[in-house]
Amino acid sequence: MKSLQNISPVSVRVLTPADAEAYRSVRLRALHEQPPAFGSLPEDEPNLSEIAARLAESDDRCFFGAFQDEQLIGIIRLSRYTAPNEKHRAYLAGLYVLPPFRCYGCGRALVRKALSWAANAPEIRRVNLTVVTQQEAAIRLYQSFGFRIYGTEQETFSRNGRFYDEHLMTLELNPEVDYNAET
Ligand SMILES: CC(C)(COP(=O)(O)OP(=O)(O)OC[C@H]1O[C@@H](n2cnc3c(N)ncnc32)[C@H](O)[C@@H]1OP(=O)(O)O)[C@@H](O)C(=O)NCCC(=O)NCCS
Repeated sequence: MKSLQNISPVSVRVLTPADAEAYRSVRLRALHEQPPAFGSLPEDEPNLSEIAARLAESDDRCFFGAFQDEQLIGIIRLSRYTAPNEKHRAYLAGLYVLPPFRCYGCGRALVRKALSWAANAPEIRRVNLTVVTQQEAAIRLYQSFGFRIYGTEQETFSRNGRFYDEHLMTLELNPEVDYNAET
C-alpha cells in the first residue's frame, strides 16, 4: 500500500440523496473502465432522481462513499435480499476507487464500513458478491476479509467481443469480529 501521507486523509461515510450527482459521475467512470469490473451498461444506469431515491438509507440497503476533502473518490453498496426467507443474506456490490486514489487503503476502508453495517443489521449473517475473475486486486481484498470463492460463472457478460467470467464469493459474518477495526 502507498503511504497515506501522499494524499489528504480519506473519510468514509454513508451517502445520502445529496450525493447523487457525485455518485453518478463516479459510477459512470466505473462502468466505462477497461478491463471491465462490472457487467452493467452505462446506458442502463438510472437517472439522477432515481439515484437520489436509491441513496436514501433504508433497513435493507446502504451506499457508502470515500471522500478526500470534499471529492467522492470511491463507492460501494450493500443490499439485503428482500424475500422474507432470504433476509439473513446481503449482497456487496459496486466497489470502485478512482484510479489515482488506488493503493492508499480506500477500498479496504469502504469494505470495512459496509461489512460493519451488515454485521450490525439485525438478522444478516452472510454477505455474498460476484467479482470478474480478472479483478485480482478486488479478489485479494475480499479474501483478506475472509470471503471465499464458492464457484465461477462462465461468460457472465461480454464486452467488445470478449467474454468475462465471474467468481461467486461468500462470507459468513463472525459475531466475534469488529469489521470496522483497522487491520
Ligand atoms: C479493487 C479496488 C476497489 C481496490 O481499491 P484500493 O483503494 O486500491 O484498495 P486498497 O488500497 O484498500 O487495498 C486493499 C487490498 O486490495 C488488494 N490490492 C489492492 N491493489 C492491488 C493490486 N494492484 N494488486 C493486488 N492486490 C491489490 C490488496 O490485498 C490490498 O491490501 P494490502 O494493501 O494490505 O496488500 C480498486 O482496485 C478498483 O476500484 N478496481 C476496479 C474495480 C473493481 O475491481 N471492483 C470490484 C468489483 S466486484
